[in-house]
Formats: sequence, C-alpha cells, structure tokens
Amino acid sequence: MSIRNLDDLLAEGVSGRRVLVRADLNVPLDKQTGAIADDGRIRAVLPTLTALTGAGAKVVVFSHLGRPKGSPDPQFSLRPVAARLGELLDAQVRFAEDTVGDSARSTVDALADGEVALLENLRFNKGETSKDDAERGAFADQLAALGEAYVDDAFGAVHRKHASVFDVPARLPHVAGRLVLREVEVLAKLAGEPARPYVVVLGGSKVSDKLAVIEALLPKVDRLLIGGGMCFTFLKAQGHEVGTSLLEKEMVETCRNLLERSEGKIMLPVDVVVADAFAPDAAHDTVRADAIPSHRLGLDIGPETVAGFAAALAQAKTIFWNGPMGVFEMPAFANGTRGVAEAITSADAFSVVGGGDSAAAVRALGLDESAFNHISTGGGASLEYLEGKTLPGIAALED
Ligand code: 3PG
Ligand code: MG
Repeated sequence: MSIRNLDDLLAEGVSGRRVLVRADLNVPLDKQTGAIADDGRIRAVLPTLTALTGAGAKVVVFSHLGRPKGSPDPQFSLRPVAARLGELLDAQVRFAEDTVGDSARSTVDALADGEVALLENLRFNKGETSKDDAERGAFADQLAALGEAYVDDAFGAVHRKHASVFDVPARLPHVAGRLVLREVEVLAKLAGEPARPYVVVLGGSKVSDKLAVIEALLPKVDRLLIGGGMCFTFLKAQGHEVGTSLLEKEMVETCRNLLERSEGKIMLPVDVVVADAFAPDAAHDTVRADAIPSHRLGLDIGPETVAGFAAALAQAKTIFWNGPMGVFEMPAFANGTRGVAEAITSADAFSVVGGGDSAAAVRALGLDESAFNHISTGGGASLEYLEGKTLPGIAALED
C-alpha cells in the first residue's frame, strides 16, 4: 500500500499541465455578514498550490462549502473564498460560476501556466454526494475531463465517499497534496505507538458523535479527559443531576458502561460554570459537578477541573485534543477551553489539535498556533482516522 505525493507529481513535470486540486475550503461564514470567519483551511492548502504554480501548472481548485442540496444556492457560493484565496496567494484567482459547465470549461481553458482557478461549490451538483455509484461516476467523468492529474489536499473531506474525493482519483493519475500527507503522517503516529503517557481531551456537544472514537481510544490512551456539552451525559451517568444542561438521555446507559470499562482512565469535570440561559450576558456561577441547580445549565468546565486536567496534561508525552470545553464563543464561558489549550501548549508533549471547532477555538482565542505540533483541518476526518476506519479519500489514493 503506497501513496504517491505531490513531489512525485512535480518530479514528472507539471509545467503547462492542468492539475486538479481537491481542497477543503469549507470555511465558517459569519451568520450576519456572510464574511469568512476563519480562513485557516484556505491557508492550509497554500503550500500545495504554490508548489504547483511555481512549477508552471495550470491549477484548477475545487471544493464544497456548507451543505447545499445538490443545486445552486447563493449563500453557499465559493466566490468570497476565491477572493480570499487570491489575497493570500497574492495573485489573481479566476472564478468559475459553475463546476462542470460552460463557465468552468472556459475558465480552465483561459488559464495560463502558473495560474489558479477556483470552481463553484461542488455540492451544487447532485452527483457530488450521491449514494448512487453511476450518478457519482457521471459527475466524476465531467470533473476529470477538466484536468490531467489529480491532487487531493482536502483532508477535512477524506472521510466522504463523494465524487470529487473518491471517484475522480480513479479516473486520473493521483497524488496526496502536502496537507493530506502531513495530516496522515501525524495521525498515523497517534494511531501507532504514541509516546506515553498518551492523553486525549474530548469536548464538543454530543456524546453520540464521539462514541465510536471513545470506544476506539479507550484501550489505547492513558487518560481521557472529557469536557464540553457531552460531559453532562457522563455526569448524569455518574448519578448527578445536570439541570437544564445539554443531555442525551438515550446515551446515559452507554456512558455508564464506558465509565465502568474505563479502568479509571476517564476524567470528568469536578466543577462547572452554570448559567441562567444560553446567552453571553447570562448570570453565571461555578458550582460542584454534583450540585448543578435544576433550573441552570452548564456552559463551561470550572477552574478546579481545568487545574486537574492541566495536571494530567503536564505528565503527557502525546496529546490529542478535539472539541471545545465550553461555549468559547462567549467570553464568560471560554476559560475552560483557554485553560486546557494553554495546558496543552505548556506540556512537553507532541500535541495535536483535531478539527474544525477546536482549531477555530485556538484562533478565536488568539492562542499561538505554532505552540501546537499540529492543528488538523479535519474534524470528522481525524476522528474517523483514529477510529481505524477506512477513509474513502485516502483509499482512493492508494495504488
Ligand atoms: C467539515 O467541515 O467537516 C468538512 O468540510 C466536511 O464537511 P461535511 O461534514 O459537510 O461533509
Ligand atoms: Mg463535518
């Protein structure tokens, strides 16, 4: 099993060749203004793009944004992303108003060597996400016709069996881009023989989203620290009342089971910040995790929990973190996430941040990104990798 990478393609020579690059430019947009709220995913693909343009390729970038339903939907247009990409590359980025239609074809035809085009949102086409192999394949045929080689740099989407991720590489010479290569190298290290203690911090709102990764990680880790909205289902499983906090009732039994099997590896909050409402200015206090008032909801882990988590993290040699500890977008409930992030960067450990929300949290809180060894661009993708699942986008690159 081997995967060729960008250097192999560059060694063959790409000057004057049309190279398709699948990127994950699915950036968060500001709900009010529609502006790009965090451009981390655009920045992450620049090394691949500049390597290709520098070698004289005609670079055709495509991506999804959000979850439109298979037809054009202006709120999910990639046009603003094309503008931002142009700024970051300090070069013109030609934008095609469709993906495989007249605009795409003429835009690609107009590319000079070393130029970049971005096509409109892949998910404006039903074929992109179709479960039907033939429908996906027909769309992939059209996409593949636009280029002569394929580079996958969309790590955040490699867990999707979509036309641009899975079917196009079957139709063209294909390699992993710089970002995908780095992401896989780092995650392979975690999945292999991580230096110990190996401490994992999980947050985010739902246990159900994280169940598979918890199951897969428990035997592997030395400690599993749980915060975020999902901690309340665990606290309930411990027999505590959680007020009006987020609770997945149908998961309580599962959590009880996990706690029993965890051999004491799972650490839960001992105190939490509770509020009267889910609002930035809501009245709030810190209470013991076993004394959450019935009318209040937990929105962050408390300072004693942060200290306990920090002590565990200080021992670690390998750390993986996915999911915020609280509602970090509201300053009153950001201390848990900030405290844990700072403990991670202070530890003398190989540290990896997995995915969407936690990566955005690092940047939104103004933390030093370079203090982590790796910040993954893939939330679901990095979790599925650590679960040991086969990722369609990676499998498609293997020869
Ligand atoms: C993500 O943001 O998780 C990736 O871009 C994949 O998007 P999806 O979950 O809509 O497939
Ligand atoms: Mg997702």
